[in-house]
Amino acid sequence: MTVVHHDPAARLWMLTTPHSSYVVRLDDHGRLRHLHWGARLTPEQAAALPYVLDVATNFDGELAEEYPGEGGARFGVPALRVVHPDGSRSTEWRPDGHRIEDGLLVLSFRERLGPLELDLCYRVRPDSDAVDRWTELRHTGADGQPVRVGQLAAARWTLPLRADYRLGHVTGGWSAENRLTREPLARAETVLTSRRGITGHQANPWVVLDAGDAGEEHGEVWTSALAWSGSWRITVERTVHGLAAATHAAGHEGPEVVLRPGESWRTPVSTGLYSAHGFGGASRAWHAHVRAHVLPRPDELRPVLYNSWEATGFDVGLAGQLDLARRAAALGVELFVMDDGWFGARKDDTAGLGDWTPAPDRFPDGLAPLAAEVRRLGMRFGLWVEPEMVNPDSDLYRAHPDWVLHESGRPRTELRNQLVLDFGRPEVAAWAHAWLDGLVREHGVDHLKWDMNRVLTEAGRPGDPDADRLWHGHVRAVHALMDRLRADHPGLRIEACSGGGGRTDLAMLARTDQVWTSDNTDALDRIAIQHGYGQIYPPGTMGAWVTDSPNPLTGRRLPLEFRFHVAMTGALGIGGDLTHWSEDELARAAELVARYKRIRPVVQRGRLYRLRDAVQYVHGDEVVLVAWRLAEPHGAPVVPLRLAGLDPQARYVDQDTGEVHHGAVLTARGLSTGLTRDHSSRLLHLRRQD
Ligand code: GLA
Repeated sequence: MTVVHHDPAARLWMLTTPHSSYVVRLDDHGRLRHLHWGARLTPEQAAALPYVLDVATNFDGELAEEYPGEGGARFGVPALRVVHPDGSRSTEWRPDGHRIEDGLLVLSFRERLGPLELDLCYRVRPDSDAVDRWTELRHTGADGQPVRVGQLAAARWTLPLRADYRLGHVTGGWSAENRLTREPLARAETVLTSRRGITGHQANPWVVLDAGDAGEEHGEVWTSALAWSGSWRITVERTVHGLAAATHAAGHEGPEVVLRPGESWRTPVSTGLYSAHGFGGASRAWHAHVRAHVLPRPDELRPVLYNSWEATGFDVGLAGQLDLARRAAALGVELFVMDDGWFGARKDDTAGLGDWTPAPDRFPDGLAPLAAEVRRLGMRFGLWVEPEMVNPDSDLYRAHPDWVLHESGRPRTELRNQLVLDFGRPEVAAWAHAWLDGLVREHGVDHLKWDMNRVLTEAGRPGDPDADRLWHGHVRAVHALMDRLRADHPGLRIEACSGGGGRTDLAMLARTDQVWTSDNTDALDRIAIQHGYGQIYPPGTMGAWVTDSPNPLTGRRLPLEFRFHVAMTGALGIGGDLTHWSEDELARAAELVARYKRIRPVVQRGRLYRLRDAVQYVHGDEVVLVAWRLAEPHGAPVVPLRLAGLDPQARYVDQDTGEVHHGAVLTARGLSTGLTRDHSSRLLHLRRQD
């Protein structure tokens, strides 16, 4: 299979993945037109593709362009907006060659009048249906005149023309991330965005589009996700002529980047993935792609962790942490993470952020005694950090009040009593690197929970006329710091966190190992949050803790087993106050941790099937099913659960009871779960019989 095909006569390029094709072509005017994204085609079939749309009237116009700029009869969402030194905005892109290398395709263009060059870049791989796209704009002029760039999209993803469209995406807020919604696509421009400088809790940079006819396991879906950890914008347009397209860009409206002669601007990667197997098929393809090509250490299984936050809040100290560590180790925990409160004057959220030395009153001999005992107990040692932040009540802020994002003469808006450090300033980034590097080196820290507990406001840098760049610069500096730490400390693992799941995206997953999914640990709420998370991101990266009942956030009481089972569908952690768990609870918890370790490869590496009130994973010969019952009215039928992804000809042995099931019966008739009580749950571990 040639992954990138070029037909010089047709001036056409086709990208081929195992189950899809993507085709673009230059028209007679040298404009790059989008022809196809969907089922696999042969080169001959691709050459026969007509243009999707070509409408031009006095009042309207529509070309299915791959990457539209402004100027001419174009009235849709521009992928590129520039303002030339003379104030004009039109661009006319002329083809300027192409480059094909392995799975990489670069299509180059030159602006007819202005000193600008544009590369549209694509990457495909033989083992993934994902198409990566990104764009680079270069200012090649020598006249010293800058160009203002208002939008430089990573990609515009055009769908084939269908009678109807539906848009799937997530909405939410703090402790309510990832609520999946699917709604008819408005005949309008629908903007999903974060203007907060982080990926955000309110939306997440991906969309799933279908023609309104797809289901969990059938139908065509077109999905796309932007790998960016700052502000972003996905504009999904549906025109009167029926065209639907999603334009992905880093940044929100407003900030402009000034591009000077000799400078270039490269966007983050936007990835598109087509599946003919419904939402579930698309999710499985995403998970496989992220594991194979995004995660830094896909070969590893995530350890069972304990985190002290819900148990202690800020009230951390050597004795209490040692007590929790011993109890956690007895449960089979493999990684002990001390959360917020271990440094400076950090007794609550009003002070101490920025002063990253162990609090002398709580850790008189530093962190070494705790780290040593955690290791002696057979666990790895992790620490909570929030490197991008500072409390005004801190030694750091008193020494460097100018290190925070701020605008001259404007208020410095505090959120959670903290301000954002300007990581785009080299001296700030160098300071952060120095203390993090020292901390990791001194204690051999295995795991950093990297938090970011507020969004950007007054995002300025007085004296810098090009301060708008800091919206991008901050993100790039955080990514670079993580990359550098990982490179220098190969054993270091990082957990992405931003008040829970506020910075979950493919760029973070490229440099972290797991995500703190949400500060909401209520298992019932978690079912919905985890359902949304798993649409794109793999369950093995989804941090899920078992905490106390009643839940500290919601007050809801849920059985220990239910709480465990829901958490065992991701990367299991424990976050409860173990000093209050009864002997029976501790004993049952230890059994469930041991059970999780047996099913972990299936959950963390398996193919996910979402069933009604259940999730199922298939990995090689093994199958794991986690089923639950929510609150059902009396008399509601208990419907058998029909499993998916099994070989109907095979038999499957229950690994706990030895009972043998026929694949055909589990698929056609279904499994009687025996779940008759609200908030009861069941975990089934099957292995295919030889
Ligand atoms: C954020 C995180 C929590 C915890 C606190 C500590 O809210 O999401 O898990 O680490 O910060 O302040």
